[in-house]
Amino acid sequence: MKKIFIALFVPLIACSQSLPHVNKPNPNDIKIDERCENCGGLYESPVPFSQLNEIDTVSCFNEPGPKLYVSGIVYQKDGKTPAADIILYFYHTDQTGVYPKRGNEKGYARDHGYLRGWLRTNAKGEYHIYTLRPGSYPDSRNPAHIHMVVKQPGVEAYWIEDFFFADDPLLPGSSDVSRNPRGGNGVLTIEHKNGMQVARRNIWLEWM
Ligand SMILES: [Fe+2]
Repeated sequence: MKKIFIALFVPLIACSQSLPHVNKPNPNDIKIDERCENCGGLYESPVPFSQLNEIDTVSCFNEPGPKLYVSGIVYQKDGKTPAADIILYFYHTDQTGVYPKRGNEKGYARDHGYLRGWLRTNAKGEYHIYTLRPGSYPDSRNPAHIHMVVKQPGVEAYWIEDFFFADDPLLPGSSDVSRNPRGGNGVLTIEHKNGMQVARRNIWLEWM
């Protein structure tokens, strides 16, 4: 409950698209993806990576809709060592399956919309996301999902398997779900607690 209380009063930065972007890719970083067309959104954090923390609450969290809390631990590739200071970027649709825009978006927000956020794992590798559960794309068979991009030190940002929802009727048999998901299984098992949908996903880094 304490975490929920804290999250509701975290500065709401996810919709602040007018702030200058202060993070840049390092050309010396190791490249995992030859091409990651959406990874650049990670660098659009409105504050320096060093000022992020392990909690992010999207600015629309208090608007109507199913509230979703996802948390987990990011581990090194060895599978057991918690990974601190890992930058995470997520974005997703609203309940109608649309990436919502306000019309003044710049950069990747023109595609990703304002339901997005940035985090930095703490010393225990933990992260906490408070958002509204997305819907599937309109008139599609694509299961609802949350995109996530990961940045570990010395490695260029890369995508991991989307977050999906085990209770999504569009999920079974969907080709969107990988057999060997990067970052580990992204299918969330939802529990209902304190008026929120709650799930956990641990993440394993791709690079040592
Ligand atoms: Fe998507």
